[in-house]
Amino acid sequence: MSDPFAFDLAATDGAARAGTWSTPHGAVPTPAFMPVGTAGSVKGVMPEQLAAIGSTQILANTYHLALRPGADVVAELGGLHRMMAWDGPILTDSGGFQVFSLAALATMTEEGVRFTSHIDGAKMDLTPEDSVDVQAQLGADVMMCLDECPPLPCEPERMQAAVDRTTRWAQRCRDQWDARDRRTAGGDPQALFGIVQGGVDPAMRERSARGLLPLEFPGYAIGGLSVGEAPSEMYRTLEATTPFLPVEKPRYLMGVGTPTDLLHAVMRGVDLFDCVMPTRNGRNGSVFTSAGTLKIKNAAHARDDSPIDLSCDCPACKRGGPGSFSRGTLRHLFLAGEMLAPILLSLHNLRFYHRLLAELRAAIVRGEARAFVAAELAKWGGGAN
Ligand code: GUN
Ligand code: ZN
Repeated sequence: MSDPFAFDLAATDGAARAGTWSTPHGAVPTPAFMPVGTAGSVKGVMPEQLAAIGSTQILANTYHLALRPGADVVAELGGLHRMMAWDGPILTDSGGFQVFSLAALATMTEEGVRFTSHIDGAKMDLTPEDSVDVQAQLGADVMMCLDECPPLPCEPERMQAAVDRTTRWAQRCRDQWDARDRRTAGGDPQALFGIVQGGVDPAMRERSARGLLPLEFPGYAIGGLSVGEAPSEMYRTLEATTPFLPVEKPRYLMGVGTPTDLLHAVMRGVDLFDCVMPTRNGRNGSVFTSAGTLKIKNAAHARDDSPIDLSCDCPACKRGGPGSFSRGTLRHLFLAGEMLAPILLSLHNLRFYHRLLAELRAAIVRGEARAFVAAELAKWGGGAN
């Protein structure tokens, strides 16, 4: 049988890659951005709207769904695709990272993580095997290994211990994935990605990558970034990490980032991203435009009858055509607490991310990625996006 998770490179330009990632629920042209649907929905956005603005693969969180409604309930409801009414590719994160950012009390041993639910205070355990079992019940196309992401800055000994534990846990996740015949509880083929840790130390990143490579995962994620380090440090770390990853597998930078971060990461060989930024910022009234970021609630927009961005084809902007929403209208809707405002700005910001990566992909295919990135960064005014 042909590989249901094939990754085909269409073109490369320096370290930047244009590819196609296949899944049982359809193909993803890369580089690609995954909207975050933490608890089973991309907040405020309908699935058909996601498809219309160019979303291909979306992300959900094991931690949230295991606590509420419970992986068994998700499975009984037909699995994540059925529950989210999204027939395209879905990826789930493994839970450990969210435990440490959200749970009330979290402790870690070699066996796994133990924590207290931020929802009802219930005590729970999550081992690498549990994480794979829960993610198989959720039924996404791709699941992630349970990993340890130490906060930065971090002592070298502590970082090395986290890297080595992440490698041992990856082996346990892989064994459990094999034991399940690499399938979801519903019987569909399911991929498992390894996660490279190691903070901002190139030697630790190399150690982590070398530990994971023999496990031959269908894809590799880069975790432990965008956790407080400077952007330049993140870019330097990516440059020191991607050369150790297999050319023929997709590379996923977890939880990143700003539009500027995405451009710099693609230029260093990253293919996939997820981040709450476009939707969370949209809900807060912060929008990305071709001239940099703007805050829609500012008084300056009160009587502005132009759309957020004349060059944007999202449902809010429509390139300024009939049915577009003006900045003044959107500001009013925000201040009046109308739910349409955060919905429209979420759609606009997601469309901005998808269009940016689609245009970058086309530039990679033409061999003009570097010039494209320089031109975008210049338009935004020194990293304003
Ligand atoms: N999301 C953002 N960063 C990380 C990470 O390092 N590990 C996991 N599992 N998820 C993440
Ligand atoms: Zn728009």
